[in-house]
Amino acid sequence: MEQLIEDIDIIDRNKPEEACETVKVSKEENTGKGKRLYIESYGCQMNFSDSEIVTAILKENGYDTTSKFENADLILLNTCSIREKAEQTVRNRLNHFNGVKKKRPEVMVGVLGCMAERLKSKLLEEEKIVDMVVGPDAYRDLPNLVKQVEYGDKAVNTFLSKEETYADISPVRLNSNGVSAFISIMRGCDNMCSFCVVPFTRGRERSRDPHSITKEAQDLFNQGYREVTLLGQNVDSYKWTPLDDLSSKKEIEKAGDVPTIDFAQLLEMVAKVDPQLRIRFSTSHPKDITDEVLHTMKKYDNICKYIHLPAQSGNSRVLELMNRTYTRDWYINRVDAIRHILGEECGISSDMIAGFCTETEEEHNDTLTLMDYVKYDFSYMFFYSERPGTLAAKKYEDDIPLEVKKRRLSEIIAKQTELSLERNKLDLNKTHEVLVEGFSKRSKDHLMGRNTANKVVIFPKKHYKKGDYVKVHVKDCTAATLFGEAID
Ligand code: SAH
Ligand code: SF4
Ligand code: F3S
Repeated sequence: MEQLIEDIDIIDRNKPEEACETVKVSKEENTGKGKRLYIESYGCQMNFSDSEIVTAILKENGYDTTSKFENADLILLNTCSIREKAEQTVRNRLNHFNGVKKKRPEVMVGVLGCMAERLKSKLLEEEKIVDMVVGPDAYRDLPNLVKQVEYGDKAVNTFLSKEETYADISPVRLNSNGVSAFISIMRGCDNMCSFCVVPFTRGRERSRDPHSITKEAQDLFNQGYREVTLLGQNVDSYKWTPLDDLSSKKEIEKAGDVPTIDFAQLLEMVAKVDPQLRIRFSTSHPKDITDEVLHTMKKYDNICKYIHLPAQSGNSRVLELMNRTYTRDWYINRVDAIRHILGEECGISSDMIAGFCTETEEEHNDTLTLMDYVKYDFSYMFFYSERPGTLAAKKYEDDIPLEVKKRRLSEIIAKQTELSLERNKLDLNKTHEVLVEGFSKRSKDHLMGRNTANKVVIFPKKHYKKGDYVKVHVKDCTAATLFGEAID
C-alpha cells in the first residue's frame, strides 16, 4: 500500500519542540465595506481560539479579514511567551513587517497575547514598529485602542481581569475545516509550575458559564461541525457556580447553598448536545483529573477516548522543583485509573521538558522509564528554556548545558517515536470510526480523519466526504499515521 505521510505529523512528532510555535493566519472575508484586518497567531490552541474572539470583536466594528498582510489596514500578531524561541519568532516577524510600514506608514501594527502581557509598554520601546500592545483580557477594548492609534497615539491595555471569559462573544472561525472547532471553557491558570510563564501572562483562573458553552456547541453542530475541543490550561479544575455572576456579597449570602458545576458535569452537558458531536478536551492536569471524569468519558460514546496528560518529568524530585504538586507514583496511579476504567485503547499523550534545573542523568532516565510504563501515543517535547520572572528563574540556576539539554531531548524524542510505532501497531487489523476532516495533504484521492484516540487515519476517498463518520479497517501504519480502507 502506498505510504502517505501527513505534514502535520511531521511537525507534531519529529520536530515537536516547534509544535507550540506554529503560525496560523486569518482567512479572506470581504464585504468590500470594511477596513482590512490581518491576524497571525502563535502559541497554543487558546491563542488560536482568542484570535477568533478578536476577529469577532473587530468585525462588529467594521473590519473584514484578509489573508494577505500587504493588503491590511491593521496587522495583529497574537503572541506566545512560553519559550524564548517563541518570542524570537515574533520579533523576526515584526522586522519583516517593517517593509510594509515603510511603504504605507498608515498601517497599524498591534501585538496581542502573552508576549504583550509579559512585556507591556516595554514592547513599544523595544519594537518601534508596534503601535498597540493588548493583553489577553483586554480584547473588548480593541476598538477604542485602534481609535487611539488612528489619532496618532500609541495604545496599551494589559489589564488582567478576574472575571472576563468572553462568554457572550460568538467567535469568527478562522482556518476552520468546518468539522472541528475549539471552545474556550476557562481562562488563566492558578497553578504555579515553576518553569511556566502562563500564570503571569494569562492571570487568575476563571470558568465560563456552562450554558454559554453548550449553546456554542449546539450552534456549531447546527452549522455542520462534528467535533469540539474544550480548552483550558487545566480543564479538570473547571468550576462554575451561578454566584460567579453576582457581584455583591449580599446576594451571595442570600443565595445560600448553590450547586456548582464541575468538569465531569460540564463534559456530560456538552456530550448531551448531540450524539453525533464528538467531544475532546485539553489540557488535563495529573493532580486534578478525577475518576468521575473517566467514568463520564466511558458513559458517552461521543466523548473521545483520548487524554492529554502532561507529565513534564518522570522523577519526583524534579517534579517537586517544577512545583507540579504530584509525584511519579501519583502520576502512575492516574494512568492506571485510565487503563482500568477506559482500557488499553484510550490514547494518552504528554508534554515533557528535558534538562530542567539540576536534573541528573538518572533523573532524566526516570523520564524515559515513565514513558516506557505509560506507552504514550505521542508527546510534545521541549528542552527547558528559562523564562524571566518565573519561580524557577528566581530560585534555581539554569545549570544544564545546552548540548546536554539537546541530547536528553533527542533521547526523549527517539523513545517517543519508538512508542508511537508500538502503539500504532496495536491498531492494525482493527476497524476504527473515523471523523473525516478533509483531504490527505498528499493526495486528493485520499481522505484524512481521526479515530477516537486522536490518531490520524488516511484512506482512499471513494464516495466519502468531510464531516462523515466512516468505518475504516486499518492495514498499515507508521509512527505518525494509520492507513486503511473504508468499509461500506
Ligand atoms: N497547561 C498545560 C501546559 C501549557 S504550556 C499543562 O499544564 O500541561 C505547554 C507546555 O510547554 C508545557 O506542558 C511544558 O511542557 C512546556 N513548557 C512550559 N514552559 C516551558 C519552559 N519554560 N521551557 C520549556 N518548556 C516549557
Ligand atoms: Fe503553566 Fe502549570 Fe498552568 Fe500548565 S498548569 S499553564 S504548565 S502553570
Ligand atoms: Fe504561549 Fe500563552 Fe499559550 S505563553 S502556550 S500562548 S497561554
